[in-house]
Amino acid sequence: MTLDTIGEFIDQLDAAGELARVTQPVSVKLELCEIADRVMKSAGGGKALLFEHVTLMNGARSAWPVAINLFGSMRRMAMALGVSDLDAIGARITEMLEMQVPEGIIGKLSLLPRLLEMGKFPPRVRGGRAPSQQVVWRGDEVDLGRLPIITCWPEDGGPYITLPMVISKDPRRGIRNVGMYRVQVLGPRTVAMHWQRHKVGAAHWREMAERGETMPVCIAIGADPASVYSASAPLPPTVDEFLFAGFLRRQPVSLVKALTCDLEVPAEAEFVLEGYIDPREPLVREGPFGDHTGFYSLADDYPQVHVTAVTMREHPVYATTIVGRPPMEDFYMGHATERIFLPLLKLTIPEIVDYHMPAEGIFHNLVFVSIDKQYPGQAWKVMNALWGQGLMSLAKLLVVVDKDVNVRDPREAWWVALNNLDPERDARFTMGPIDVLDHSSRAFTYGSKMGLDATRKWPEEGFTRAWPGRVVMDEATKRRVDAMWASLGLGSREGQGDGAGDEARGGAGPGARTGERART
Ligand SMILES: Cc1cc2nc3c(=O)[nH]c(=O)nc-3n(C[C@H](O)[C@H](O)[C@H](O)COP(=O)(O)O)c2cc1C
Repeated sequence: MTLDTIGEFIDQLDAAGELARVTQPVSVKLELCEIADRVMKSAGGGKALLFEHVTLMNGARSAWPVAINLFGSMRRMAMALGVSDLDAIGARITEMLEMQVPEGIIGKLSLLPRLLEMGKFPPRVRGGRAPSQQVVWRGDEVDLGRLPIITCWPEDGGPYITLPMVISKDPRRGIRNVGMYRVQVLGPRTVAMHWQRHKVGAAHWREMAERGETMPVCIAIGADPASVYSASAPLPPTVDEFLFAGFLRRQPVSLVKALTCDLEVPAEAEFVLEGYIDPREPLVREGPFGDHTGFYSLADDYPQVHVTAVTMREHPVYATTIVGRPPMEDFYMGHATERIFLPLLKLTIPEIVDYHMPAEGIFHNLVFVSIDKQYPGQAWKVMNALWGQGLMSLAKLLVVVDKDVNVRDPREAWWVALNNLDPERDARFTMGPIDVLDHSSRAFTYGSKMGLDATRKWPEEGFTRAWPGRVVMDEATKRRVDAMWASLGLGSREGQGDGAGDEARGGAGPGARTGERART
């Protein structure tokens, strides 16, 4: 069944035993976050939560329930995208890519929109009032204080919309962008837009501001789950996220014209904030905010959005998330991106076998990469290519290993890497752009990166000693011990030995294993 709304997704989660309802009064201020954080930190990511009695900042009861942690496990993330295993989407993309592709990186990347269009699921703009416009507040009727927008952490600058789809358009090319950028509520009709400088929405705004043109912006909350996820996916600026969502769900996303600005918004959204940024206005202070890193990101200046209308379904559910010390719900969204984008990375760096970003690395801080090494120096070639690639350019530490290492198991990856490294020979530093959220770099968004070549070294790389093999038992002995195991009185084979190194690549849910490991 293709999911069209967050409500349908919640029903599906409920039926699958993946949802817990909270009926007790819980405040939007800190309490909801603390409860959600404890659940997200439980084994496998805990359940999705539906808070049915939410207390607003003014003490009144929210007219609408709050859903959180909807995407916060391997299973729920897969359910959101209509697959049983996230790798199935990567496999679908690989299949599409196994056709004649143009030479050169530019040619290959320009193929991407065509590939997605090949799916024949471009978004459709429908006429009339959409479900997301059943209730409309305009002008002075707009009061964001009535929405159950949560204040997550004690030192946060205010309440934040944390799971939004921020919609804007490239003023030159007219291509739409949908980005998940947190939105801080400043007043009943004003919010601050935290699109970081490396993101597509920020590029649209820079261009509009240079032209001195008023920029329309819409902020949708809740929609079909594939669209919500796609807002967080690092697609090239030429790809409309609603097109990508259509590809993921194998059905077009239904859009409708916004009522007070020239943009299209999801027809099945729960809430939509319509508004504009005036380029003549000064930036406003945004933050601090308890961030993905587990540390507060400092207050900084961002554009202010004036909200001209709020539209909503008749009985909407307010969908949100929290970020903070990992693992959190965003780890599973990031993991979906990791799996889905592997074939696209391989397009331009074909020697990549697999890669993994462990939860503790907050995506950009640590990337393990396994490669099929065919010539000396190839690990450096791969690192340079990755640092030249979209948001991968923000990666702080890249660790490259050979293809026989299961990088989705960080314990195995570190074990092999730490054995293989001669630090002076195998570590290199370089400079480049750094994630906005990084608090350690010498300058805001600029700093150093480290690459570790933990592949087996070749004579051409100056290594002339013998390279040892891994310690593993021979198959015949293993079979004999298997046969006698039950009679040894040593309990079931589960949990005997480490096993990490024996796990077959891509075996029984390596992603799930990673999620569990993240908690140890
Ligand atoms: C829960 C969550 C919150 C996020 N918050 C922000 C944010 O406040 N600002 C930002 O620039 N990126 C944020 N991101 C990351 C972006 O959504 C991601 O980089 C996405 O690719 C941006 O879309 P774009 O490539 O169209 O710019 C967040 C991601 C998640 C999952």
